[in-house]
Amino acid sequence: MGLKSKDLLGLKQLSAEEIMEILDTAKMMKMVLTSGNKKTSHLQGKSVVTLFYENSTRTRLSFELASKYMGSASANITTSGSSVNKGESLLDTARTIDMMATDIIIMRHSQSGAPHYLAPRVKASIVNAGDGMNEHPTQALLDMFTLYEKYGHIDGLKVAICGDLYHSRVVRSNVIGLTKLGATVSVAGPRTMVPVGLDKMGCTVCRSVSEAVKDADAVMGLRVQLERQQKSLFPSVAEYSRFYSISEDVLKLAKPGAYLLHPGPCNHGVELPTCVYDCDQSVINEQVTNGVAVRMAVLYLLMARRNQNENN
Ligand code: CP
Repeated sequence: MGLKSKDLLGLKQLSAEEIMEILDTAKMMKMVLTSGNKKTSHLQGKSVVTLFYENSTRTRLSFELASKYMGSASANITTSGSSVNKGESLLDTARTIDMMATDIIIMRHSQSGAPHYLAPRVKASIVNAGDGMNEHPTQALLDMFTLYEKYGHIDGLKVAICGDLYHSRVVRSNVIGLTKLGATVSVAGPRTMVPVGLDKMGCTVCRSVSEAVKDADAVMGLRVQLERQQKSLFPSVAEYSRFYSISEDVLKLAKPGAYLLHPGPCNHGVELPTCVYDCDQSVINEQVTNGVAVRMAVLYLLMARRNQNENN
């Protein structure tokens, strides 16, 4: 069936069938990734460029490794060291990359909607690697893939997402994706950090972390985005941790054996203590591996769409 669009801008734009196709393709990619030989030729003769206006370790490196494992030429551009620092516009930068016969541009930008703006203006496929406070689709895909691997299905799962809901593009993509696949999502965070309209996205906004986590199959902590706090949305880190961290006692309220997820990077002792980060229920390290498999799947399916478009 394949993906309908040349771009991956958000889970909002994908159907449940397309999301499942990515998750099923990621299963195959995980087999390749964990085999003795990670090299494939799916992207041979193709080029992938990462264009990051914000910091990243996991997303950027996993896309770069994914594209290299699949045989493409790959390159990175960040704000420092590029002509962005000389004042070149986002559009001119993207068009410059596009005119070098680039097939896929993976971009992260602080402005919500930046990838949506570029997608119709370049020939390359645009992949959203995080735009402002809007979406981080491949993070949610790898979160869902991790649960899909563990449970064999997403439908019917209860997932709790707790923390800095206000700044989190991860929560938006997860609520959209998980509910499209039939999961129930409960969220909790300080009242000042619950964005307007989140309750209209199909999740339940709870009054406390305990209420959200109760009987959950999976609990996801969100990073407190201290770098984005224009004004203080909670009194102190100590108080945040006291009321909103996923402590050992809070995690016990979930179903026995419930999985603990976190997109990373983690503020240890703020959104969760290190003992929870490292506990047997934690799949945080598996999420990192799954991030490569999911991004291999995304690159594979987008390239298949491009090849089909070229042949028609
Ligand atoms: N989860 C995530 O997006 O991490 P990075 O910022 O390190 O890419």
